[in-house]
Amino acid sequence: MANKVNHIAIVMDGNGRWAQNRGRQRIAGHERGAEIVRDITTFCSDHKEIKQLTLYAFSTENWKRPALEVEFLMKLLGKYLKKELPFYLNNNVKFKAIGDISKFSRKLQKIITATEEQTKKCTGLTQSLALNYGARNELVRAVNRIDKPCCEVTENDIASALDCKKDVDLFIRTGGDHRLSNYLLWQSAYAELFFTDTLWPDFTSVELESIISDFRTIERRFGGIK
Ligand code: IPE
Ligand code: IPE
Ligand code: MG
Repeated sequence: MANKVNHIAIVMDGNGRWAQNRGRQRIAGHERGAEIVRDITTFCSDHKEIKQLTLYAFSTENWKRPALEVEFLMKLLGKYLKKELPFYLNNNVKFKAIGDISKFSRKLQKIITATEEQTKKCTGLTQSLALNYGARNELVRAVNRIDKPCCEVTENDIASALDCKKDVDLFIRTGGDHRLSNYLLWQSAYAELFFTDTLWPDFTSVELESIISDFRTIERRFGGIK
């Protein structure tokens, strides 16, 4: 039987190179990248099988970038969330942030939590944005949250203390590099990994559809035999 695609995670990489290839500043790539988020979210929300789309927008390591780029990304995120609210509501999309947003400005934190609050009754696709997210940071925060003096901590205890609680079925990275960059390490234990050279601003729902078709044909054994 063909694999079901419930949870897709994407490392949206290649914005800077997309802009530089056009002789433009890196930030132009981030702007274009934000538009692609809308296209891909629309596709996933219209797809009857996909329940969750988790997008890597800013990593715990991305603070190392020049201050101006980081500042631009923070502004873009605030602008994006404000602009997208009607889109979320009209498409019944629930927005969720994963990652440690306490490191963001008060103003940005408010926009993030307000968007979560305002879309919490949506029952269609869940779009999670990974914001100041690192899988190791998530795991450390999860472990510190578990209060179980009575007995041993189980896999379930950890999984349910993580920001992102669902296992990933399909893990995609755009931009040509073959690495995980600290993304959803626990949840991707049995994900199918797809890497494409397409830079994120050039990524389309047609390419996503073709990746999903390939994903369907893979024999997922989860350590068993078929
Ligand atoms: C991904 O694109 C977006 C973020 C990390 C915020 P990059 O900005 O990493 O683009 P490249 O990889 O340098 O081209
Ligand atoms: C991963 O891309 C993070 C996001 C897409 C948000 P990076 O461009 O930061 O990853 P590395 O540095 O190439 O591993
Ligand atoms: Mg990159």
